Amino acid sequence: MFELLPVEVGHARAVLAFERTNRAYFAATIGDRGDDFFAHFDDSWATVLALHEAGTCRFHLLLTETGEVAGRFNLLDIEDGAANVGYRLAQHLTNRGLATGAVRTLCHRAGSEYRLHTLHALAADGNLPSRRVLGKNGFRPYRPATAQELPGEPAHWYRRRLSLSGHAGGTAVPAVPAVPAVPAVPAVEE
Ligand SMILES: CC(C)(COP(=O)(O)OP(=O)(O)OC[C@H]1O[C@@H](n2cnc3c(N)ncnc32)[C@H](O)[C@@H]1OP(=O)(O)O)[C@@H](O)C(=O)NCCC(=O)NCCS
Repeated sequence: MFELLPVEVGHARAVLAFERTNRAYFAATIGDRGDDFFAHFDDSWATVLALHEAGTCRFHLLLTETGEVAGRFNLLDIEDGAANVGYRLAQHLTNRGLATGAVRTLCHRAGSEYRLHTLHALAADGNLPSRRVLGKNGFRPYRPATAQELPGEPAHWYRRRLSLSGHAGGTAVPAVPAVPAVPAVPAVEE
């Protein structure tokens, strides 16, 4: 069993262990956090907690039954009812649908608890697992990313409008929309 929970101060050691264990894996796909992140982890963790408390970001952990961090699923830069979604999963747990399910839960929470109406996500065109996770959760590409937004490789911004039923605070998790195939060239502009 896995559970998606908001961050708490006591999660620090488990998060650091997760980031250390999976450092090379994340570095290969979304870039390395850098040595300073690991050397001064307590500072960055304090920033995470402060942003979470302020409501500027909403950070969540996917936890195992034994309290290990399986993944991180976050709502970032929350403003005017919109947020950017970011996520990463432990390498040894990939390809079993965990990220798809956690993003589904995060989207529901974004509407029902945080009252957001729009979610954005940035994914490199070559990051097929991430594009698949987004597609299965109703995100659609709407514009190419600039070189400043994601240097070094083509990428697109994806968007999902949250339904009013999410805002109504119902307990049911919204059905996942039909799964589209990962397009060779992402569609652009709605
Ligand atoms: C992206 C990430 C979170 C996906 O986690 P996950 O738990 O493996 O995702 P899921 O199992 O829910 O779904 C992955 C989907 O991608 C598919 N997939 C995996 N590798 C693939 C590949 N090389 N080509 C095409 N599809 C692929 C899987 O088959 C699955 O689709 P399916 O359910 O239709 O079979 C994980 O790979 C990760 O943490 N990567 C590094 C960080 C990252 O890229 N974050 C996202 C930044 S935009």
